[in-house]
Amino acid sequence: MLFSDAQNLELHQAEGLMKFLERQPVKPALPSLDAYAALTRANREQFNSLRLDYHGSDLIVGTPQVKAVVRSVLQATLVNRGRAFGRSGVVISGGSTMGKTAAAIAAMKTVFSKYKRDVPDFREFGRLPVVYVEVPAGATPRSMMAQFARFLGLPVATRATLDSLQRTVVSVLNEVGTKLIVVDELHHLSDTNKSNVESSDLLKSLSNQVSATFVYAGISLHGGRVLAGERGQQIAGRFTMQRLQKYTTANADEWRLWNGIVRAFEEEFCLFNHKPGDLAEHSAYLYDRTQGAIGSLVHLLTLAAQLLVLEDFKPEHERITLDLLNTIEVDIAAQQASEAILTTVPQSKSAAKKSNASVKNAA
Ligand SMILES: Nc1ncnc2c1ncn2[C@@H]1O[C@H](COP(=O)(O)OP(=O)(O)OP(=O)(O)O)[C@@H](O)[C@H]1O
Ligand SMILES: [Mg+2]
Repeated sequence: MLFSDAQNLELHQAEGLMKFLERQPVKPALPSLDAYAALTRANREQFNSLRLDYHGSDLIVGTPQVKAVVRSVLQATLVNRGRAFGRSGVVISGGSTMGKTAAAIAAMKTVFSKYKRDVPDFREFGRLPVVYVEVPAGATPRSMMAQFARFLGLPVATRATLDSLQRTVVSVLNEVGTKLIVVDELHHLSDTNKSNVESSDLLKSLSNQVSATFVYAGISLHGGRVLAGERGQQIAGRFTMQRLQKYTTANADEWRLWNGIVRAFEEEFCLFNHKPGDLAEHSAYLYDRTQGAIGSLVHLLTLAAQLLVLEDFKPEHERITLDLLNTIEVDIAAQQASEAILTTVPQSKSAAKKSNASVKNAA
């Protein structure tokens, strides 16, 4: 049961992305305790394997930040509806593991499902409504164009110039009627480019030449070179910015938000004895462990749920407890941030030590 038979889809190719966007994780229905107890060992393992797949699936929880990204992508798409030039787009910027890719995927799924509703037989027409390209490390504008070409299944000759690649890619994108183009890891482009002019030019000309809405996601794009200078300003003047950050808990509203996020993840658990809201009393502990980083929270909670299933506990023990959470390591960044706080904040003020979550939950 440690390994899954579920098919891993290749997002960097048109067909893989379409299948991925079409796939909706289905939460397995929990049988009654009696029915579960009556399952043969093989059937129980099969059911638990489904639960492991579900907990580890690409399910994206609609956090406020995810919703904000989806909303601005839909708005940009609407603005661009009949525009032949000066199209709008969205920049998703933030630190590593803040959920940029997850939010971009949520936006792609939303746009894709709306498109599919309008054009159900889009495959027959050879349409490709959504494109996703990850800029490779150390990318030049040319290698970024090559990534587009590979996504589209076009051959990339070693001698092909940026211009010729761009011409081919642009013509295919227009031919297949692409509506949304997500360029992820865009910081890789500005990192290596001594002058950002070429990169900004490429992005600008692509969005002029292809009648799609562009979303750029990457680390710290808000302060980066892609949006700087005259050329960068041309993008900055047309795109809206979604900055994804760690959640903070400075006041009652922020605590409410954090508690809501923890609860939203709990709603997705497929466990016999864990109800949404059970983790409310530990929300300060969860904040302390993760320092408000969504990636760390997802890791901690997902792994806790999976361990409960994998260990094949009795149904009544399938509940996420502090003891279980304490056995799970979070990523180095969250751990270091948490330790730094513990050494600078007097023990009595540490949320975890004091376990004052109930006060904050009530706020
Ligand atoms: N709303 C969400 N629902 C479910 N999982 C999420 C959500 N947001 C983030 N995650 C998970 O948290 C982890 C980090 O998120 P993600 O990969 O999107 O971050 P990122 O900002 O793109 O990071 P990087 O800059 O390293 O690419 C991933 O495992 C992702 O699936
Ligand atoms: Mg990412």
